[in-house]
Amino acid sequence: MAAMAPRSFSIPFMFIFFFLVLLLSSITTTSSSNNQTTYIVFMNPSLKPTPIKSHSHWYATDLQSLSIDPSRHLLYSYSSLFPAFAASLLPHHLSLLDAHPSVLLVLPDPLLLPLTTRTPLFLGLPPFSPPVTRSTSSDVIIGVLDTGVWPESPSFSDSGLPPIPSRWRGQCESSVDFPPSLCNRKLIGARSFSRGFHAAATGGESENFSARDQDGHGTHTASTAAGSPALNASLFGYARGTARGMAPLARVAAYKVCWSTGCYGSDILAAMEQALEDGVDVLSLSLGGSSASFSRDPIAVGALAAVARGVFVACSAGNSGPAHSTLTNTAPWITTVGAGTLDRDFPAYATLGNGQRFAGVSLYSGNGMGENAAPVVYGKGFQSKANNNSKLCLSGSLDPAEVKAKVVFCDRGVNARVEKGQVVKDAGGVGMILANTAANGEELIADSHLLPVVALGWEEGDKVRKYATSDSNPTALLTFGGTVVDIRPSPVVAAFSSRGPNTIVQDILKPDLIGPGVNVLAGWSGSIGPTGLEKDGRRSEFNILSGTSMSCPHISGIAALLKSAHPSWSPSAIKSALMTTAYVMDNTGSSLVDADGSIATPLAYGSGYVNPQKALNPGLIYDIKLDDYIAFLCSIEPNLQLIQSITKRSNITCSRKLANLGNLNYPSFSIVFSPKSRKAVKYTRVLTNVGPTGSVYSVEVDRPASVGVKVKPAKLVFRQEGQKLKYTVTFTSKMGKGSEAEMKFGSITWSDGKNQVRSPISYAWSLF
Ligand SMILES: *[C@@H]1O[C@H](CO)[C@@H](O)[C@H](O)[C@H]1NC(C)=O
Ligand SMILES: *[C@@H]1O[C@H](CO)[C@@H](O)[C@H](O)[C@H]1NC(C)=O
Ligand SMILES: *[C@@H]1O[C@H](CO)[C@@H](O)[C@H](O)[C@H]1NC(C)=O
Ligand SMILES: *[C@@H]1O[C@H](CO)[C@@H](O)[C@H](O)[C@H]1NC(C)=O
Ligand SMILES: *[C@@H]1O[C@H](CO)[C@@H](O)[C@H](O)[C@H]1NC(C)=O
Repeated sequence: MAAMAPRSFSIPFMFIFFFLVLLLSSITTTSSSNNQTTYIVFMNPSLKPTPIKSHSHWYATDLQSLSIDPSRHLLYSYSSLFPAFAASLLPHHLSLLDAHPSVLLVLPDPLLLPLTTRTPLFLGLPPFSPPVTRSTSSDVIIGVLDTGVWPESPSFSDSGLPPIPSRWRGQCESSVDFPPSLCNRKLIGARSFSRGFHAAATGGESENFSARDQDGHGTHTASTAAGSPALNASLFGYARGTARGMAPLARVAAYKVCWSTGCYGSDILAAMEQALEDGVDVLSLSLGGSSASFSRDPIAVGALAAVARGVFVACSAGNSGPAHSTLTNTAPWITTVGAGTLDRDFPAYATLGNGQRFAGVSLYSGNGMGENAAPVVYGKGFQSKANNNSKLCLSGSLDPAEVKAKVVFCDRGVNARVEKGQVVKDAGGVGMILANTAANGEELIADSHLLPVVALGWEEGDKVRKYATSDSNPTALLTFGGTVVDIRPSPVVAAFSSRGPNTIVQDILKPDLIGPGVNVLAGWSGSIGPTGLEKDGRRSEFNILSGTSMSCPHISGIAALLKSAHPSWSPSAIKSALMTTAYVMDNTGSSLVDADGSIATPLAYGSGYVNPQKALNPGLIYDIKLDDYIAFLCSIEPNLQLIQSITKRSNITCSRKLANLGNLNYPSFSIVFSPKSRKAVKYTRVLTNVGPTGSVYSVEVDRPASVGVKVKPAKLVFRQEGQKLKYTVTFTSKMGKGSEAEMKFGSITWSDGKNQVRSPISYAWSLF
């Protein structure tokens, strides 16, 4: 994702207030004051000395042979994941390591920046009724890598849960603010990983190095995946109801990898290795990453090791939409989750002095403005003339003499939305109208501001802005509509949700699917207010957030339900079930739309919006074995030894490669017609019957006029459960020259009259 790195600097600030973390690989690798930099070093497994006491002994011996003192420089020794270590090294160490025969790859420790505590929040509950859980779902363990956990949250009550599965090998690590007694039958593990953070970062002096969540994000994601039902949950009255995770009987193990300055790859890898040893069944990572290749991305290589052990891995797709090619975590063994809305909203209104009323959103929960309108001001800074800082309501920009007792109109952008509210309040304002600019379009984000605030879209906002600047005596009254459900249309793809095409391998369609990621109510940390602002002294056991960080744990929890219903299913089978049963129509019967009302495409929603009930019984699945992923890797990664290292198989020869990367047995299709394959692209897929004996499936093709699609055979008769049948599909381009820029979309659906096994297809015409 080379294009992503420079872009990171120019991302409008609004993006960094979403929850997903951007991994800025080499750029943000931090040197600490002692000039040491952390690296992850991959080792050649075939050069492992035998007999060997331990992997850490091997690495230490090799470091010593280079006169690098392991006691001072070695941070983590990875072994069960794959042979690698993390070390904090001086510049001259690098050339030494590069020349060492055992060293395959030296990767700067990437930093993921958790920007969530300054983040604005959303609200809501899943629109679907969760599947009826079986008792076996209490056997499933979800590992969440995040900012830690608030163990006292009602979402982690273990009332009614049976004893912890005896295979569990994890623990609740003891620390100053996290005695092991805080774990229970729901929260069965809590660990923290901070060596990478310590080695790289200054700061953190005030942090306790425990799994306790000082941020809220980790408590929110963990409780979304598997929180126990919590009655009468709300954010100051908003979205009141029973809050519960997707898999309310599953167990949670929290692995804290994110600290005040971010989450380091070395800590993430250590946590993934520990989680696999502890015995988790599902890993949930609401963290982003961008990298030019899968084999150099710690989350991707860690996830491959997890999938090799039968552990399902869900990751956020990213919050950099609606621009295209903004996805993170696109390795085919990862389930990449985008975000959509729920059918719930929090309306708020600005009634102007001219009688016009504009509708927006808000999570404001105080006493309000009463019944009297107040004057509206825009751009009232300390200079007599309007200036841009005061239009944006940046800190210190508003002149209290101009703003006191007024409603301040603020443009969205640059600083956090909740911070603008704070700035207006500090300057004596009684309310704020927060208006989108062109950059945000009509996407509305509701926040629990400290004063009355109505957030308006671009079009409405523009009208109010004109009124505020042209009327001789502009006034406004802000009022609040509470929680409203049955919003139509819903779901809608969230504007912020990152979009394809997949920039690493365009032949794999990503994201895989979307789930609830807007206005999600879940547990929160007791050490911070819902806005994340220092001045926010309020505390709430629940908070309302938006982001692909919120949709990811929904999928993790639903995957846990599938795992308990079908213990023998591989991670790929679970992913297939989630994808082929996802839906693409909203509650008005129209195709899913984007936040701006235009028809969305699989580049935004992948296979569609998750449907947990249907995923339990998908009829057929597209399974992928580890050997297939290895063949895939062999086709894209030139370094055989590196493949041997990250797959932990020193005997791999890469004798099998995929003629076309899209020929992986994936539950979706991304067809790229290149000048070479201008005429036809042919794929083989294998379906496994997980439904009843004697199921007869026939195929239905939905195709654009510019493509021919031929499926052979067109009918599949499954005589047994578990039977595998093959089909081929040939795509032929009929596109005329010169019109190649546009992408097209379609689908293939296998149906037996009861199950619809649907695969979305994207078509692209590459010029090279
Ligand atoms: C770190 O490197 C800079 C120059 O790159 C040098 O001036 C400084 O003395 C070094 N600090 C330490 C602690 O080695
Ligand atoms: C660290 O833990 C101690 C003991 O629980 C607590 O008093 C203190 O506030 C904690 N520090 C932070 C920064 O949370
Ligand atoms: C629900 O919680 C609110 C406070 O958030 C409280 O006032 C109310 O009494 C509670 N209702 C019930 C039924 O417990
Ligand atoms: C202020 O904003 C306007 C457009 O909104 C822009 O043209 C101008 O350059 C900005 N001025 C400064 C000093 O940033
Ligand atoms: C390669 O090693 C794995 C175990 O690491 C073993 O299961 C497999 O059979 C071996 N394959 C060959 C071709 O030797």
